[in-house]
Amino acid sequence: THPLHNRSFLKELDFSKEEWGSLLELSAQLKADKKAGREVKRLTGKNIALIFEKTSTRTRCSFEVAAYDQGAQVTYLDPSGSQMGHKESVADTARVLGRFYDGIEFRGSKQEHVEQLAELSGVPVWNGLTDDWHPTQMLADQLTMLEHSGKPIEEISFAYLGDARNNVANSLLIAGALMGMDVRMVAPSELQTPPEVVKEAERLAKDSGAKILVTDDVAAGVAGVDFLYTDVWVSMGEPKEVWDERIALLRPYQVNGELVKATGNPDVKFLHCLPAFHDRNTTVGEDIFAKTGMDGLEVTDDVFESEHNVAFDQAENRMHTIKAVMVATLGEWD
Ligand code: CP
Ligand code: NVA
Repeated sequence: THPLHNRSFLKELDFSKEEWGSLLELSAQLKADKKAGREVKRLTGKNIALIFEKTSTRTRCSFEVAAYDQGAQVTYLDPSGSQMGHKESVADTARVLGRFYDGIEFRGSKQEHVEQLAELSGVPVWNGLTDDWHPTQMLADQLTMLEHSGKPIEEISFAYLGDARNNVANSLLIAGALMGMDVRMVAPSELQTPPEVVKEAERLAKDSGAKILVTDDVAAGVAGVDFLYTDVWVSMGEPKEVWDERIALLRPYQVNGELVKATGNPDVKFLHCLPAFHDRNTTVGEDIFAKTGMDGLEVTDDVFESEHNVAFDQAENRMHTIKAVMVATLGEWD
């Protein structure tokens, strides 16, 4: 069996550099196997529950396609599709689903819920995003950075711009620190990464050699980076009333043509976990675009539609990396 057999995948802090690295390697191998038409099914006959308290495109489809590729069956429970959190506690749901399923994915608000599911279900549980962390996203992001830079992970630099207190930002900092990367969190002080997360990152950096920069200075933050990364300015679960304040704070942190130039790296690549608000075809609850006169929010359309953008390779890698997580923790290896 794989060394991670029977483990849950709840947050980056639960893994050593070697364990995390082994998931990146397995992801690359499974991707190559699928492309070469020689997929080995290691999840045949497994039953997998996908619980989504919040909506999803990439994460849900990744779990489904990866499970079917590997011979497993899935049950998708949509944001209103189960009793959990309404009529039944997470603790009871965990003890029921653990009798039916071999593995459970959970996306929702509270990290404690995914932790509780893991503790009480008795089967591997995978975190598909909570308010605090988005760990499956990190494997896809790092695989994409490895593929597009051709560098060893310890030599890759990236800057994250935007709401640095959200799940993706927390995870980027911790996962980057774990793997020894050059990580810059670039945000206004009001939206900067919480001190306890920065402290954990600095602790990891002592072992891994990671470089951590937490700054509100855009020019210093993006100088020379290999990758620019941004995420939505208002995350799922936040009230739409925060938009005005967010836009006011984050306008200087928008990824636009000028910011791309400010990196000084003509080959800089653009990453985004998606969905992205880059044109007027997306809605954000109210007509922000009309109200502000902006064409894009966290990223402008010209950057999004440019050669710099590798976010669709990144999106594809969600599937290969989520497959690796399930195969490592639940797969049958001979
Ligand atoms: N990046 C990401 O998690 O996308 P979904 O919300 O569509 O799953
Ligand atoms: N920070 C975003 C990520 C979406 C994949 C959110 O939580 O909505």
